[in-house]
Amino acid sequence: MRSPLCFWCTPVFTCLLVAAAGACAPDAPPPSKPGQPVDWDVGARLPEPVDRNPDPDVLEVDLEARVSSVQLVPGGATPAWTYNGQLPGPLLRAPVGARVIVHFTNNLPEPTTIHWHGVRLTADMDGVPEHSQAAVPPGGTFDYDFTVRDSGLFWYHPHVRSARQVGDGLYGALLVEPRPPPAAAEEPDGLGDSLVLVLSDIGVNDDGTLQDPDTGGELLKLFGSEGNIVLVNGRIAPVVLARRGLRQRWRIVNAAKTRYFQLAMTGHSFVRIGGDGGLLVAPEESQRLLLTPGQRADVLITPQGEPGTRVPVRWVPYDRGFGSAEFRPEVEAFIVQIAGDEPVVSGPIPDVLRQIAPLDTAGAVARAIALTQATIDDKLVLGIDGVPSWAAEPLAARVGDTEIWTVTNEMAWDHPFHLHGFFFQPVDPLTKAVPARPEWRDTVNVPRMETAAFVVRYDDRPGMWMFHCHILDHADAGMMGMVHLSR
Ligand code: C2O
Ligand code: CU
Ligand code: CU
Repeated sequence: MRSPLCFWCTPVFTCLLVAAAGACAPDAPPPSKPGQPVDWDVGARLPEPVDRNPDPDVLEVDLEARVSSVQLVPGGATPAWTYNGQLPGPLLRAPVGARVIVHFTNNLPEPTTIHWHGVRLTADMDGVPEHSQAAVPPGGTFDYDFTVRDSGLFWYHPHVRSARQVGDGLYGALLVEPRPPPAAAEEPDGLGDSLVLVLSDIGVNDDGTLQDPDTGGELLKLFGSEGNIVLVNGRIAPVVLARRGLRQRWRIVNAAKTRYFQLAMTGHSFVRIGGDGGLLVAPEESQRLLLTPGQRADVLITPQGEPGTRVPVRWVPYDRGFGSAEFRPEVEAFIVQIAGDEPVVSGPIPDVLRQIAPLDTAGAVARAIALTQATIDDKLVLGIDGVPSWAAEPLAARVGDTEIWTVTNEMAWDHPFHLHGFFFQPVDPLTKAVPARPEWRDTVNVPRMETAAFVVRYDDRPGMWMFHCHILDHADAGMMGMVHLSR
């Protein structure tokens, strides 16, 4: 038997009650729309830090990197590497155009920096040691201070021994939102209730201690080491509540050091509306969603199923080369649980989300690089054009130039290729034509023995800008380079 109280919660009865009270007169505010189940996202919600600055146009926070114990396996606590003791670090949220000030303290046993992945800031705030800044020593501090010019989901992570530091827990999300109410040109209304999801993994032994990232030797360097525990917002298989038919908007980042995340959800499709650089031109529906390390996706899902149904969002192996997919079981990354609320019908998803002008490629400078492996003095070295990062000369480029990059992967494993500081538009690798619906990206997959291409235009932010494979073992093994951008 339903208790009578339940009826009060249903939208129909609320409306009848409101109508009886005379509040449904033409000039009264419309009754509120039925929403997500109570506490729908508490199972996964990311904590946000205290904003010390009362100015709504400034987000000013403290971040401290330190080892902090988290409970991941029953055998014991894990000494994770964290920001503010949290795994992942706190969710930073700012309106587009805001100034972000981060007072950073390094209480790790080794130097570190923070890199703001995807943010179009100035080179001195980009967090690349010896180029943007000196690495922050243990006990040291650094103030990051920059403006967020684009709305979208970004993320932050160290750029020192990144496979180790990111792999052991140092990463967090930065969500830059349109100002309310969003101008139609900026973001259409009613996309869905949003939830930021930081996907990652971590290597933990049965007793809770961190796995040694270097035990795999040369083969593991080729493959890239994946953690054995999949995490969503730092939790193992967290549960998100959903109301049938009521759209949810998931802002996802893959913060894993090596693992590709291919997601699938039985009976549901993903409608991708955005990526690394904000919204797409038009929605794209698919049964699977792929994010390489470093990439972001903005997706809508419409929950279906009887109340109480648990729909797992599965990690499905993706073949990025030998060892990545063979005989590997799927993993339930997180769970969507259909709550018992009355179903609703969500409005249509707009056909056009945003205008993106294709970059003009006439007169563009052609740049071709190869992603390579070599054995030097019996040691496996990865690099760009056969040269590891520590021996490479920077590429010279000019502010205002447009360049078409052709990136050829000469290896038997895929590489997610990332450029700092600038969004680019992927183009056809053969014709170099910009697609009819261009997309802004900062990380693109280069499949094994294949080529990817993109066009980039450098705005007026001279300095040293890094590019690298975002499989961080590969980056650490030499697959990184620099663009020296001058006026
Ligand atoms: Cu996530 Cu050098 O980047
Ligand atoms: Cu980056
Ligand atoms: Cu790689």
